[in-house]
Formats: sequence, C-alpha cells, structure tokens
Amino acid sequence: MMPVTQASDYAREVDNIYMFITYFGIFFYAVIVFGVGYFVYKYRRRRQNEETPDITHNTALEIIWTVIPSIPLVVMAFWGFNTYMQARVAPADALEIKVIAKKWAWEFTYPNGMSFGQEMHVPAGRPVKLVMISQDVIHDFYLPDFRIKADIVPNRYTQLWFNADEPGEHQVFCAEYCGRDHSNMLAKVVVDTEEQYQQWLEQKAEEAMNMPLPELGKLLYVNKGCNTCHSIDGTRIQGPSFKGIWGQTHQFSNAAPAVVDENYIRESLLQPTARVRAGYEAIMPSFQGLLREREIQALAEYVKSLK
Ligand code: CUA
Repeated sequence: MMPVTQASDYAREVDNIYMFITYFGIFFYAVIVFGVGYFVYKYRRRRQNEETPDITHNTALEIIWTVIPSIPLVVMAFWGFNTYMQARVAPADALEIKVIAKKWAWEFTYPNGMSFGQEMHVPAGRPVKLVMISQDVIHDFYLPDFRIKADIVPNRYTQLWFNADEPGEHQVFCAEYCGRDHSNMLAKVVVDTEEQYQQWLEQKAEEAMNMPLPELGKLLYVNKGCNTCHSIDGTRIQGPSFKGIWGQTHQFSNAAPAVVDENYIRESLLQPTARVRAGYEAIMPSFQGLLREREIQALAEYVKSLK
C-alpha cells in the first residue's frame, strides 16, 4: 500500500523493489534478533563448573546461512540495476523534449522547436524522453511522482524518460544545491490527453507567433529566466536592471561605450561577454541558438517599453 502518487508503471516498479528490500530487512532483523535472544537464553550457564562441548564449526550450517541470504541480495542487485537502466534508455518512439537547466529556471523545448515556460506539457500514455543539459552549474531534475531523478551537468547530455498513466499535474524539483534560488527552481509536469496536448502545443505556438512584440518579450523575459538576474523596476540583482536603459549610453569594462539599441540587445543575448557592463560580472549565459530572430526583436521591444 503506497500513500504517495505512483504516476507510471516505472514508479510502481521502483516501489516494488523498495518494498522488497524493506520486507527483506524486517524479516532478517527478526530472525537474527530473536535467534540471538533464544540462544542466549537456551545456553545460559546454569551450574558452577559446568563443562560445555568443544564445537569449532559446522560446515553444513555455515553454507546454509551464507548461501540462502545471498540469493535475495543477488535478486536486489539485478532487479535494481535493471530498473535503473530502464529509466535511462528510452523507447525509440518516445516524444523528445529538450531540457535546459540554468540558474534558476527550466526551459523545455518541444519537437516544434519552441519553448513555453516553467510547465512541461506531455501526453498521457506515451513515452516522453528528456534530453537534458545545464547552462551553468550542476542541477538535478527530480520528478518524485514518477520516481525519476538525474543530475544535469554542463557540457554533457543526460537522459531520462517516463510514461505517464493519466492526465494530472506533477511537481518538478531541482535536487542539487545550485545557489541562492535553488529552492525556487521549480517546474510542473502537466499530463494532458493526446488531443489536449496537441491543442495546447498549437495554441501556444500560435499565441507566440501572433503576439505583439513587447508582449512576447515580456513573456520571454519570464520564460527564459531573464527575470532571475535583471529587474524591471530599477533594483540591482546579479545583472543591471532593464528599467529605463533604452537609448542610454553605457560604460563597459572591456569595450568602448555604446548606446542601448536593437544591436546592443542582440549582442548582449548572443555574445554577452563582448561588452560587460562596468561594475558587473561577466556571468550572463549566451542565448545563441536558443532564440529565434523574432524573439530577439521581442526582447528588444520589451526593454524599449520599460521607461
Ligand atoms: Cu538548480 Cu538547484
């Protein structure tokens, strides 16, 4: 009996192993503790100068108590390894979603090449494969309802997959301490029916394509995680605030002064270290290949709109 959500066959499999190991532990704990107690009592010293028989060993008994408990241990090892491998190797027909982790946001990119924020939508009853990479430090994708979890590291892809039973919502955590906002690095997996999923995807894509540029920029500002380092109200976080910077001339620690315009914003997104704002560190990640031309325009328009 499991009081927690088991959202896939895999989750049930993991719990079965876990319960097998638990019951195995309880059974042998009982056998050993009661056995010790029984023999302590049975062979206690009763009389002074009582002679005990001189027994050195018993080969048959020793073989029995070594071999029999070893069998469940071998079962645990193989069952555990098999199940572990199952979560890493996705079926060939799986729906592939790219996951980018960065301080302190998630980005999920769908087969249509688009991404829509901190909610991953997936269809129920279809294997979903996650191809994950980090843009900065080590993060960890943890989806407890599906019993899957894997580190996400820079410069190397890791994979996981799952197959959701039915529509519902599931919490995603970052399970590797990654800095100040680690505990806020949350996302959701929303399981839809196949039909709902297709509709959601089309609707989102259409919204993004038809949205006025400043509005799309505002959405990207949150979806791409710009908001974790750049405020829009003048507050200094890790990076400079966006408030009122359009048209200003900025000083840089490694380049000549420049005016904040479309080209400057574009360069900041694609080659952030080309001009590093004086008084700030060069910690901005590059969005090269992660933004479409229209999205870059949208972000510039959004910055322009922040008077
Ligand atoms: Cu990312 Cu903790």
